Amino acid sequence: MSELATKSIRLPRIGGWGESDRSVALKHKLILGVIGVMLGALLQGCTAGKQPSGEETRLANAAKDVTIPLEAGKMKNRLPDTDEVVSQGQEAFLGSCAQCHGADARGDSDIGRNMYPPAMDLTSSHVQHWSDAELFWIIQNGVRLTGMPSWKSSISDNDTWKLVRFIHKLPHLGAASAPTAVASQAQAAVSTQDKYALKIPNGLAFSEFRGYESWQVISLSHNGDKLAAILGNPVMIDAYKAGIPGNGKPFPDGAKMAKIHWNGKVNDHEPGAPTVPDTQHDVDLMLKDSKRFADSGGWGYGAFEYDAASNVFRPADLKDKPPQGNDAKCGFACHTIVKSKDYVFTDYGPR
Ligand code: HEC
Repeated sequence: MSELATKSIRLPRIGGWGESDRSVALKHKLILGVIGVMLGALLQGCTAGKQPSGEETRLANAAKDVTIPLEAGKMKNRLPDTDEVVSQGQEAFLGSCAQCHGADARGDSDIGRNMYPPAMDLTSSHVQHWSDAELFWIIQNGVRLTGMPSWKSSISDNDTWKLVRFIHKLPHLGAASAPTAVASQAQAAVSTQDKYALKIPNGLAFSEFRGYESWQVISLSHNGDKLAAILGNPVMIDAYKAGIPGNGKPFPDGAKMAKIHWNGKVNDHEPGAPTVPDTQHDVDLMLKDSKRFADSGGWGYGAFEYDAASNVFRPADLKDKPPQGNDAKCGFACHTIVKSKDYVFTDYGPR
């Protein structure tokens, strides 16, 4: 099979969004239209610096392709179509996708609605017509020239297949049948700020860790009155599995960790009165990039404090514990004692 073989599907939307059936006949006209606009631009002199007119934008969007390599379209969903898989897919969706596509996946969020083109209604027949393999490819690669990002580096293959199961289940999930626990979480998630717009001045952006909510657990910790889950992106998890840092090798660039802290509380209503997570406290982040963070052992550090009352995050600063400067080095000093483990305290917990 030639590598160049591709299946090219033009997005069937012209003018208003979601008018899917007029596309075939109009497509040819539109391509001529695009050429016409380009010729027009040449005749008028260069218009590249100007705001595109409504007509130009409309035509550029109509000409946009989702081009899925034929080989990619042959993959099979490796996970079964069970409630468990669908609900794990929903969790990943709420963590990484809901801020644009809306908690109910209908594209109804402030951010998604204001994008151009807007984040799509994933229950629409346009999205539902993709096969599992095609959706997998779209999620992994994103949609060129739109706000739909590529998720390859932050969502594992397995979680992508879960998302696909969830998306294809959407038309069968009435709002009423959505699991209530997850639904109320979703309410909280969409009613607040876009935390991923936050950035530490001169330091890490929260968006560099997009999707961390559904990363795999590396380990847990209980320190004073705080509980924490330490999570790793797929690069990080694969490195642990390859024996790093015990084998003396450093974690590869692209490895990321997130440590979610909760205030602990004793739950008297459970047998044994366990200490369980109460309100969230903060998220600490580490990102390996040996060039960018050459002067802090190859790792960039950052922390975002969470205020449970207002449900809002903010970049940590020097008044926080431990104090965070406005750069990517805040963790370097205290992580230096584990330099021999490539600055990482946490061991991969057996399971
Ligand atoms: C930053 C905003 C944003 C996030 C986050 C986001 N999307 Fe999208 N998505 C978009 C936009 C914008 C489009 C519309 C692109 C277009 O017109 O083709 C889109 C389109 C899509 C499509 C349809 C593509 C097509 O052309 O049929 C799918 C499927 C999709 N997104 C799935 C996801 C999944 C799954 C996630 C989470 C892993 C996600 N999106 C996260 C913005 C986002």
